[in-house]
Amino acid sequence: MIIETENDVTPAVLKMMEGAPDARIRQIQESFVKHIHAFAKEVRLTEREWEYGIGMLNGVGKKTTDTHNEGILFSDVMGLSTLVCLMNNGAGGSTETAAALLGPFWRMHSPKTEHGGSIVRSPTPGPELFTYCRVVDDKGKPVAEAEVDVWHASTTGMYENQDKNQADHNLRGKFFTDADGRFNFRTILPAGYPIPVDGPAGEMVLYQKREPWRPAHLHFLIHRKGFKTLVTQVFVPGVKYIDCDVVFGVTKALIGEYKKHEDGAPPAPGVKAPWYTLDYTFHVEAGESGLPQPPIK
Ligand code: BEZ
Ligand code: FE
Repeated sequence: MIIETENDVTPAVLKMMEGAPDARIRQIQESFVKHIHAFAKEVRLTEREWEYGIGMLNGVGKKTTDTHNEGILFSDVMGLSTLVCLMNNGAGGSTETAAALLGPFWRMHSPKTEHGGSIVRSPTPGPELFTYCRVVDDKGKPVAEAEVDVWHASTTGMYENQDKNQADHNLRGKFFTDADGRFNFRTILPAGYPIPVDGPAGEMVLYQKREPWRPAHLHFLIHRKGFKTLVTQVFVPGVKYIDCDVVFGVTKALIGEYKKHEDGAPPAPGVKAPWYTLDYTFHVEAGESGLPQPPIK
């Protein structure tokens, strides 16, 4: 096919792509071409604007390293990660789900930590938090021997991989549920933090006059053969940015009951008031277990 006008380009490209052997991959690639061509036509994209867009794409690649994933960050701030998460969880997007986006900061090999142990691995300011968690199936039965990764940012507003003052794997840990589906751990109350704004994703957020902040939360990844892996976050109620999360992760189901305790016997010796507790039950769906690609090493 010899192209004569702009209207010939999309069908020419689609025709050339017909040889892609896998039907699903072909469907995705064709749809992508149709939409991106339609987008360029809708906004009448100029050559300078196209150049800028390609520069952004290249910037995402250049910024990505073993310890920083700008591609995921870009998808997160566009709401694409949350959209894909909600479409693929909660009975195919039809019901409220216990899942939330993975984000760019999960590391695969968190240190195994005993039931009730602490994930604070270097001095980290903030009130202490004692969590009492349980994993159950859709009938409320405990799920034993589930592998649970936990991770969160420090009160300095950074994950340990972003901050040379924190010990390796500070505020990260791996737990296994007991026969009653329980796993407990100690940490500090999470605080809100800004996403990195020194790359294309953050630059775009700032350009749009958005707050680059995430509200305080803990991350969980729950993995057990026979169950769909649950990736989720549990948010602290009433905190700043809870209603304007820059990556759209907050849903009603994910706001936890973090209780403040100002007096009474502390849950462990030497704990200063106020301390906090979180009781939370995770519901996992039957399905195929699998792990996401770690965004960073
Ligand atoms: C996070 O919660 O770790 C996160 C998610 C999306 C973008 C930046 C950080
Ligand atoms: Fe986070």
